[in-house]
Amino acid sequence: MYPLFVYDDALEPGIALNPSIASMPGCNRLTVEGVVREAGEALDVGVHQFVCFPKTPDVLKTRLGEESANPNGLAQRCIRALKEAYGDAVYVYTDVALDPYSTDGHDGIVDDARGVVMNDETVAMLCAQAVSQAEAGCDCVAPSDMMDGRVGAIRGALDAAGFHHVGIMSYCAKYASAFYGPFRDALDSAPASANGVVRAVPRDKRTYQMDPANAREALRELRLDEAEGADVVMVKPGMPYLDVIRMLRENTALPVAAYHVSGEYAMLKAAANQGWIDEKAVVLEALTCFKRAGADIILTYYAKEAATWLRDMQT
Ligand code: PBG
Repeated sequence: MYPLFVYDDALEPGIALNPSIASMPGCNRLTVEGVVREAGEALDVGVHQFVCFPKTPDVLKTRLGEESANPNGLAQRCIRALKEAYGDAVYVYTDVALDPYSTDGHDGIVDDARGVVMNDETVAMLCAQAVSQAEAGCDCVAPSDMMDGRVGAIRGALDAAGFHHVGIMSYCAKYASAFYGPFRDALDSAPASANGVVRAVPRDKRTYQMDPANAREALRELRLDEAEGADVVMVKPGMPYLDVIRMLRENTALPVAAYHVSGEYAMLKAAANQGWIDEKAVVLEALTCFKRAGADIILTYYAKEAATWLRDMQT
């Protein structure tokens, strides 16, 4: 599965001058048309699954993140464009979380007085976001926010709106990891990055993402997500968490996805660009190891490149 970053060229025309992401060489922020083009190239080498992450300009960020559920928001337009261009040839996932839309840079809504992320208020907003993405035509929503009870609530909201056929890929075991740094650079979405530092806001996501030292909590998250109706369960980050992938694989009949995250990509690219590793060999080995650990689906910024290498090896 190929994750793509999308920006709004009407609202942020400056990005066109420098769409690259310093910490993710080879990945660019793309316009909606750019996403459609990139997806077309990926389709040509056999990648059919995509997930789009919108970069929201500061002017559209709010404390509650209402832009997340705008039927004409960037994510929703991107879903529609992919489906209009390729129909059922593409399987489109979405990101359900508030961080791209939040002045506080959090996946949930921060309580003004106490400076904590509020679970249930957030879940209500996530349900509205997921329904708007389903209306735009996505195949599967993917909540990455880690609020408690959100999978069941989103399932209920989708069903009530007539979207029984839209799946849920849950970020099931998502750890509070420092490997997400380059992703937050790409979207300018780090905690407290845009709020002018007027309010008290948690500096990290440790109250809702998981403790990297805790393996068994992944099993508890798995049981909850299965009971709430998840269709796919994900582990994130990837390579440092292969033990968790294996544990989920052995404890569920659901497909297990693994996210080879931005910091992992950055490390491989940096070493490759220095000539210190054989990029193609190392990346294909890394992806093979995800499969060995039990991943059925791999989200990787290398998707198009790796698929191209694999195709060339077969011909
Ligand atoms: C946020 C989100 C993050 C990623 C995907 N969705 C960052 C975070 O939790 O802070 C990270 C992906 C990556 O690092 O490649 N909802």
